[in-house]
Amino acid sequence: MVLMLAFVLAQLTQLDFWQFPLIPALIQGIGAALIAYWQRAPRWWLPIHLGFAPLAVIVQGFDIAPGWFLAAFVLSLLIFWRTDRSRVPLYLSNRDTAIALAALLPATPVRFIDLGCGDGRLLRHLAKARPDCRFVGIEHAPLPWLLARWRTRGLANVAVRRGDFWQEPLGEYALVYAFLSPVPMPRLWRKASSEMAAGATLISNSFAVPEIVPDTEIELKDRRVTRLYLYHPAGQADLAGDSAAFPAI
Ligand SMILES: C[S@@+](CC[C@H](N)C(=O)[O-])C[C@H]1O[C@@H](n2cnc3c(N)ncnc32)[C@H](O)[C@@H]1O
Repeated sequence: MVLMLAFVLAQLTQLDFWQFPLIPALIQGIGAALIAYWQRAPRWWLPIHLGFAPLAVIVQGFDIAPGWFLAAFVLSLLIFWRTDRSRVPLYLSNRDTAIALAALLPATPVRFIDLGCGDGRLLRHLAKARPDCRFVGIEHAPLPWLLARWRTRGLANVAVRRGDFWQEPLGEYALVYAFLSPVPMPRLWRKASSEMAAGATLISNSFAVPEIVPDTEIELKDRRVTRLYLYHPAGQADLAGDSAAFPAI
C-alpha cells in the first residue's frame, strides 16, 4: 500500500520513478516504519521496515548474480531454520551462564536437557564439568545441530538430537534449561508443569514465564547482566490461568 502511495506521489510530482528508484523506496520505508510504529509493532521491526526497500534498491545497483542471494537464503535457513514459526532466534549462552548452571547442578548425578541447544557449547561445558551427569540437547536447525554434534563428540555423557523439543517428554529430567524468547514461554510453562517431575527445576535464561513468580532469580555479573529464572513447575499448570490465554504456537 505504501509502495502504491509512493508511486502515486511520484506520478503527481512527475518524478521519473525509474530514474530515481531510491526516492519511492525511501518513502515506502518511512511509511512502513510509521505504520509499524502506529500498530505498536516490536521496536526492532522499525529499522527493518525503514531499511528494507531502500537497501533492496541499493543492492540492485551492485549487479550481484542472483545465485548469491539464493546462497545467502539457504545459509540463513540452515542456521535459523523456521524462526518464523518458532519465534526463537539463535543466540548463545555465555561462559558465565555455563558456570552458573554448573553450580546449580545437584551433587548427585542428574539428567539435564537444553531445549534448543544451539551449537552445543553449553552442553560441552557442563558435560566436562560434571562427567557423572547426563546431558541432552535437542536442536532443529541443521547447521547448529551439526556444530553441536561436532563440539560434543567424544563426550559419552552428552546426546545431541535433531528434532523439535516440543515433542520431547520432560519427565525424566531434573533440570530443564531454556534460552528461547518471550513468545514460547507460556506454552513451555504448560508443557513443563504437566510433564516435569516433582522437585525438577525449569531454568529460563532471560525470559520469565508471564504471570508466574519464579521460585528463584539469579542475576549474573556478566556484561549483559543475564538473569536466570528458576521454577518448580510440576503440577502447577492451573496457576498459569486458562490455557486458552496461551495458544500453542
Ligand atoms: C536462543 S538459542 C539458545 C541456544 C542454546 N540453548 C544456548 O543457550 O546457547 C535457541 C535455540 O533453540 C532452537 N530452537 C527453537 N525452537 C526449537 C524447537 N522447537 N525445537 C528444537 N530447537 C529449537 C533454535 O534453533 C536455537 O538454536
